[in-house]
Amino acid sequence: MLGIIGGSGLTALANFDVTRRVVVRTPYGDPSSIMSFGRIGCREVAFLARHGHGHTIPPHLVNYRANIWALAKDAKVRGIVSVASVGAIRADLTPGSVVVPDQIIDYTWGRKQTFEEGGDSQVSHVDFTEPYDGGLRLAVLDAAKQAGEAVVDSAVYAVTQGPRLESAAEINRLARDGADIVGMTGMPEAGLAREIGVPYVAICVVANWAAGRRESTNGIQFDVMEARLHESLARVRHLIEYFCEK
Ligand code: HPA
Repeated sequence: MLGIIGGSGLTALANFDVTRRVVVRTPYGDPSSIMSFGRIGCREVAFLARHGHGHTIPPHLVNYRANIWALAKDAKVRGIVSVASVGAIRADLTPGSVVVPDQIIDYTWGRKQTFEEGGDSQVSHVDFTEPYDGGLRLAVLDAAKQAGEAVVDSAVYAVTQGPRLESAAEINRLARDGADIVGMTGMPEAGLAREIGVPYVAICVVANWAAGRRESTNGIQFDVMEARLHESLARVRHLIEYFCEK
């Protein structure tokens, strides 16, 4: 079983034959949406909409722990593909690009970041040197090649708190830190997947130039962003279909 977490705009998948929808409860509360089970090609898939089916849950209020727990422990997925929209910081990552990041920097705060809650159990730490699963990344890149979809195969994803977008100076700082793309949902999702032991990969769709860059020099245009996202998500759906067929 493969877990897919859909981000902004991705509340439905191509060729996803849903066989059942399940309301899941976890020890950490309710996941963002009903979990849809079904098949894409020959692969069993469990799907969650990160922001809820009506896109009502902002990035800082997503119950990341419940989402990851539901996929790992209820659906018992063996891997998670997470789809998210981002802004471009690096010059060659033009809006419309699809990026499979290989590194992450967490700037979020006040989110429930861990399943570790102290108490009587021994403290444990997880290695996060490579935040994304190497095998899953290669599989996604391979599927993209087969699907004929151009993807950028590495980038540093800066995760900001949101829900407001960044100031131009904040983006300059992220660039100095080495970030290539910026979004609001990559953490704690990736860290929780690592803690729970499920391989995790992100597919990021570049919706806009980050604040202060190129066409966003004087501000971000939301209508342009939406239209682009729509177009690129069609490519991501195609890519996921190939990934599942393999
Ligand atoms: N910043 C943060 N998150 C985003 C952006 C952005 O520019 N675009 C899409 N998600």
